[in-house]
Amino acid sequence: MANFLRFWLSFGLLITLSLQQSAPLVFRDAEPPKIAGKQLLVRGARYHNESHHSHLEPQRKDSFYWTASQNGQPAFAEFVVETDDDTSVVSMERFKYLLKSVHCTNTSLAVDFKNQKSFEYTKRAWKWVNEIERNTLIVVAGTGQCGWNTHRLPFAVSKIEFDDHTKTAKLQARRSEWKDVFYSFELSVGRVAKEEVHDTCVAPQHMKRKEHEKTLTMSFDHLWDLPQKDFSTPEDAFSLTLSCDQCGTKGSFELGFYLRNEKHVPKAATFTLTAHGVSARIGPKLTLSGDFTEEYSQQFDLAKIPIYGYSIPGVLDLGPEIVFSLGFSVGPVSGSASISSGIDISLLDSAELKIDLLSPHVVHSGWTPQVRTEPVKVDAQIEAGVNIHAKAAIQLAAEALGHGFEAGVNLKPVLGATLSLSESTAGVCANDEKHHVFGVSVAPSAGVSLNAEITRASDKGNPLAKLTIADLKEAIPDACVGFGPVVANSSLPAKRDSSGMASNQSDADSLPTASSSQVHQRYHRRHHHHHGRRH
Ligand SMILES: *[C@@H]1O[C@H](CO)[C@@H](O)[C@H](O)[C@H]1NC(C)=O
Ligand SMILES: *[C@@H]1O[C@H](CO)[C@@H](O)[C@H](O)[C@H]1NC(C)=O
Ligand SMILES: *[C@@H]1O[C@H](CO)[C@@H](O)[C@H](O)[C@H]1NC(C)=O
Ligand SMILES: *[C@@H]1O[C@H](CO)[C@@H](O)[C@H](O)[C@H]1NC(C)=O
Repeated sequence: MANFLRFWLSFGLLITLSLQQSAPLVFRDAEPPKIAGKQLLVRGARYHNESHHSHLEPQRKDSFYWTASQNGQPAFAEFVVETDDDTSVVSMERFKYLLKSVHCTNTSLAVDFKNQKSFEYTKRAWKWVNEIERNTLIVVAGTGQCGWNTHRLPFAVSKIEFDDHTKTAKLQARRSEWKDVFYSFELSVGRVAKEEVHDTCVAPQHMKRKEHEKTLTMSFDHLWDLPQKDFSTPEDAFSLTLSCDQCGTKGSFELGFYLRNEKHVPKAATFTLTAHGVSARIGPKLTLSGDFTEEYSQQFDLAKIPIYGYSIPGVLDLGPEIVFSLGFSVGPVSGSASISSGIDISLLDSAELKIDLLSPHVVHSGWTPQVRTEPVKVDAQIEAGVNIHAKAAIQLAAEALGHGFEAGVNLKPVLGATLSLSESTAGVCANDEKHHVFGVSVAPSAGVSLNAEITRASDKGNPLAKLTIADLKEAIPDACVGFGPVVANSSLPAKRDSSGMASNQSDADSLPTASSSQVHQRYHRRHHHHHGRRH
């Protein structure tokens, strides 16, 4: 039977919520923040009284900034590069007001200066490139500076000719990828891990990071809206419907990504997730009917919600995705009833989680969920084991400067109950004032687990680490629901004993479902019947 069900159920379980696949949010170039007393590591001649010319000086270290706006909230990225010994960097954006024109091809740059003074300055500052063969100047063109470039673009310059007549520097250049010209860098996007969790050897921490600690907000507001889903198999007289009309998640997460490379080698890589008003609720209702001994389980995705990714062309592709799934297992089952319950979980505000992608581990604070459960409701006599879980998984993927990382965090609330049917002439349920003769004893269980999985993008099959962040069991007192005829009043038992089984026969006959002994008979019949038919 279970095999048959599994086969039958494997069709069409993916329920797709209204999804909008959005194009990634592309960051655009941003001005560097104004920093008082920025120390420039200047190579070559120094003309301190020519501050507006200082940006022409090749640097050992430079910073590039990007912003993106999302729902009116700015997001921010900072990319700090450090060159090797024989390499320097200049950003043409910083001295664009000195330039008359720039002409770029994949193999050349022609930089035309407005005035003689700037040109002369440049000649002195850049001639260093020609001095030794391997000296390389990385010239970064801002978006549109070449006319055709749709994003910031680095060029590796190996030789320069200066045309005094036209005030033009003609650069022999190779259009390059960022990852091919900078081997030591630090990339911070969105909210990055707090300073103390950064390793040492980070760019000097002046005010800039705090000023620009803007965020990438990832909405977690999703109503699941699972209408009644029918899993019934008419042939086997097995009936199961599942609905979850009050299921969903709320709130938002702030996302951050941080990557630091030193001489080709990644030294730090983290995702940061900070919760804001995050909660999840499942209130499933399972309607069950059948007689079988085996356990049957099924898990299916309710929705994959691609959060629009973020892109810094040539630097970073960040693609979060949220996946909701629901699973249940039932069995053994004998009888027919609707069973419902609910669980609400929430995270503390500003619960913060840092996923270390290199030496895979998770640093977290405040991620122990608050759990609230509702009593299990049963509306008829049944014997059953039921278990329902939901899973809200946040998948994070980053492709940055030649490195790929993936990590997933999932929040998994679980609700379960063992329902057993008993019969007693004295009344089954202790707290049942009416003393019903039949009762369903409910042994409920609930819990929530929070797990993380860290994967290299190149080897998704073999996670680097699977970590449990929290695993809570919520104590729910057992319950008992009475059904059927009520026990005769204290004055009646003597009479009842003398007159045989039940004095209130008509009531017993009008039961909506069979008495437990009938249930058991039917159960055994069906059970044998199935074995006969399937084997
Ligand atoms: C200031 O710059 C000019 C060139 O523009 C130079 O002749 C002069 O010596 C500089 N002064 C100082 C104090 O460096
Ligand atoms: C320049 O380089 C880009 C990327 O490498 C390439 O797509 C393009 O075709 C090249 N253009 C020319 C004119 O070679
Ligand atoms: C028992 O019966 C008496 C009268 O016969 C009635 O007053 C009383 O409420 C009954 N008790 C219950 C629990 O039904
Ligand atoms: C049988 O029990 C019901 C309550 O469950 C009561 O209303 C009815 O009067 C009883 N019938 C007899 C014959 O005692």
